[in-house]
Amino acid sequence: MKEFNTLYLIVDENIAVITINRPKYLNALNSEVLIELSEAVDLIDKDPTIRAVILTGAGEKAFVAGADISEMKSKDVLEAREFSSLGNKIFSKLEKLRMPVIAAVNGFALGGGCELAMACDLRIAGNKAKFGQPEVGLGIMPGFGGSQRLARLVGNGIAKEILYTGAMIGAERAYEIGLVNRVVDSTVVLEEAKKMAQAIAAKSPIGISFSKKAVNEGTNMDLEHGLSLEVELFGSLFYTKDQKEGMSAFLEKRPATFQGK
Ligand code: HXC
Repeated sequence: MKEFNTLYLIVDENIAVITINRPKYLNALNSEVLIELSEAVDLIDKDPTIRAVILTGAGEKAFVAGADISEMKSKDVLEAREFSSLGNKIFSKLEKLRMPVIAAVNGFALGGGCELAMACDLRIAGNKAKFGQPEVGLGIMPGFGGSQRLARLVGNGIAKEILYTGAMIGAERAYEIGLVNRVVDSTVVLEEAKKMAQAIAAKSPIGISFSKKAVNEGTNMDLEHGLSLEVELFGSLFYTKDQKEGMSAFLEKRPATFQGK
């Protein structure tokens, strides 16, 4: 796999792990990280063996403490818009990967870091993790999708409280409001994310990818269109070997081996 300056990409047994690696700056997202993240997502997309992705941050202190404030400070209006647009495009590409992406949140997930975690399918947080959208304290607002994904995940009321106060919330509160799927001891976040990724990797990649598409695309439709999308996706799974294998294995009382075909 390609070497990067600001992140690691390791693929092992159908699971890719991306580790954002600027621990001295709490893994803050500068343009270089964004571009390398985009390249890593492209590599993952092209690798048919990968069935789940884990995204995490290097060091014990942070997942990602936001976009890089020292880089953003001197941007003019056009540059700020470009930066926001670049981040949004990359996060959307990550969100649309055919396989699930799990954020293993090992510390601060603030601003762009919280936004990055929200662009993932699932979030596992360490008990010391802290989430928040502190942008209003910097005279700005979220620009990598936070105003949209946070409201969709936790509802407008709670999202507005988080956006307007800029206050951090702990992992337990994040769990209560549905911002994270699970809270685990901070020493085992990556291990738990790997267990979840392995459970996902053992199931039908096509069944999972279509489930993902149905949820992601259906969320932006009315119920009637969402249900029609489900019917279409469900039906087309009957073209696949995974459907034949899954049902045969059940009836033959043996474990299924899915090829994602
Ligand atoms: C640049 C950052 C950074 C960031 C931390 N650092 N966060 N650098 N951008 N977002 C740097 C610090 O400047 C410091 O560098 C080093 O990382 C360690 O951080 P400290 O502040 O010394 O650590 P600590 O006192 O433990 O405080 C941790 C913290 C704090 C609470 C997470 O660092 C913090 O508030 N960071 C900023 C969080 C934030 O506002 N994020 C939102 C950014 S805006 P030095 O060189 O001093 O050692 C955003 C917008 C996204 O994300 C959309 C854009 C379009």
